Amino acid sequence: MYRTHTCGELRITDTTKQVTLAGWVQTVRKFGAITFVDLRDRYGITQLLFGESLQPQLDSQPLGREFVLQAKGTVHERSNKNNHIATGDIEIAVTEFTILNKSAVPPFKIEDDTDGGDDLRMKYRYLDLRRNAIKRNLELRYAVGRSTRNYLHENGFMDIETPFLIKSTPEGARDFVVPSRMNPGQFYALPQSPQTFKQLLMVSGYDRYYQIVKCFRDEDLRADRQPEFTQIDCEMCFVEQEDILNMFESLVKRIFKDVKNIDYAEQVQRMTWEDAMWQYGNDKPDIRFGMEILNLKSAFLKGGHLEATGNLINGANFGVFDNAETVLAIAVPGCSEYTRKQTDELTDWVKRPQIGMNGMVYIKYNTDGSLKSSVDKFYSEEKLKAIADAANAQPGDLILILAGREERTRKATSELRLEMGKRLGFRKDDEFKLLWVLDFPLFEYAEDDNRWVARHHPFTSPKPDHIPVMIGNNPVIENAEKYLEHPYSNIKANAYDLVLNGNEIGGGSIRIFQRELQEKMFAALGMTQEEANHKFGFLLGAFEYGAPPHGGLAFGFDRLCAILGGSESIRDFIAFPKNNSGRDVMIDAPSAIDNKQFDELQIQLNLQ
Ligand code: AMO
Repeated sequence: MYRTHTCGELRITDTTKQVTLAGWVQTVRKFGAITFVDLRDRYGITQLLFGESLQPQLDSQPLGREFVLQAKGTVHERSNKNNHIATGDIEIAVTEFTILNKSAVPPFKIEDDTDGGDDLRMKYRYLDLRRNAIKRNLELRYAVGRSTRNYLHENGFMDIETPFLIKSTPEGARDFVVPSRMNPGQFYALPQSPQTFKQLLMVSGYDRYYQIVKCFRDEDLRADRQPEFTQIDCEMCFVEQEDILNMFESLVKRIFKDVKNIDYAEQVQRMTWEDAMWQYGNDKPDIRFGMEILNLKSAFLKGGHLEATGNLINGANFGVFDNAETVLAIAVPGCSEYTRKQTDELTDWVKRPQIGMNGMVYIKYNTDGSLKSSVDKFYSEEKLKAIADAANAQPGDLILILAGREERTRKATSELRLEMGKRLGFRKDDEFKLLWVLDFPLFEYAEDDNRWVARHHPFTSPKPDHIPVMIGNNPVIENAEKYLEHPYSNIKANAYDLVLNGNEIGGGSIRIFQRELQEKMFAALGMTQEEANHKFGFLLGAFEYGAPPHGGLAFGFDRLCAILGGSESIRDFIAFPKNNSGRDVMIDAPSAIDNKQFDELQIQLNLQ
């Protein structure tokens, strides 16, 4: 037997027991005639004490970091206890040991505070995975998966696998393609998600489906995106949107409870997409804090409920505001005493290329009620007060104002809000706030291609009242900047996203389930009937054989884990992730393939 106990198991109540442990050498400390070794495994660390009689063997077989060691001995109470670790009351007085395997000197320290940089740790990921921090993340991931499976099983969901070698499913990214040797010149695509398959399963009558499944998307990578990532993918039939929202907010609450022991008793908040864009400048607002965006001038999309305030800032001969398409403000609490240096620093922050503004205006609403601004020349104190009121500011607030083109300014103000929220400590890792964002637009205008695309995917159903507006054949817009004025901009979908602390952790929709409407949707996206049949004939066909009303959603599993673990990077929650160029630097993939493989596939390289 290699071991009787793990390295995290033994306690003071085990003293005098004869035990055998096996693990990796964390540290070796020699004090005269005795040697202490910390032995580590997945479960913890146990101190081993090698007495004088074992020194000759240690001299001839010296131990090094990460050696694999088996040690037999007796459990003793420790004189010098370590209350930082669970086994800190005891040590093993070793009677016999065997080096099971040696180790080269590891290229970085296998400790919480490692000296290894990102690239090095990725190259030796199998060593990085020995570190506590990563191990805890993988444990959390496993716990989230287990909780998910339990909940879905208890609610009658069936785990059904769907294929990886498929035909392209449009989810907005590029496909990864796989050549078929047996069908020369033809390619499979790896699924961007199992979308069409789960819908077909509904047609087949498996009314509650789920899968924790890999998805593949060839898109630009960010901290929260990987080319292969995992979804908790779900679909239900005979349900309305409300049923889905209830079922899956309860899933997330269950995960909170099982994994973090958090009782999320409150009702999950809901907000329309339009309100999210208005109030937060963003379709995934972080609602852990307020600081809502106030539109001081123009109306975004329809509605214009703040239009009246526009008069406040127009016509003061301050060109930046007078000529801007929009002027947006946030009132930052308790910052009216910012120094010139601090406001200059913020101005530089919004001027960074990632934010892209030309400048920033501020109004200090002092605690004594007086107002001071960077535009005192143009605005009387009375007007500044009116602007402060419009921005819902309180004495003590610093009002930050950005002006410019609608889309950029909205995005920049949203970023500024998040940045200020972070700086002021309003975005705490251990506070969790869920939000459903509802009623997304059905279409999105792709300016580069000058055409309308499905905002979610083409199987999402439009709000019934909006169906007549879908006139077909992807109407081209003469002036791309005016796309918001096109009726297609206002068609809303039965689509929803679940947002956690400002991150989109899941999204889904009620689907189209009639062939006629699905054909209308394909046509609205500019597909001819032949194209639609060629790409999605299987789905259109299935819709002729008794397709039930259905809907579903998918969670980004890696993202959910990362947020629960208090991290922005999903890489830390994936055992073998890719780097930002989509490479696995450990196995060195992607890589060239043999000429023989090309020959078999009847493919020739034509690198430009
Ligand atoms: P969607 O494309 O919104 O929907 O994806 C669902 C969720 O998956 C996560 N996600 C990602 N996570 C890591 N890396 C990526 N590259 C990545 N892309 C997406 C996000 C997102 O909310 N088939 C539909 C779902 C449905 O309609 O049921 C779909 O895939 O957290």
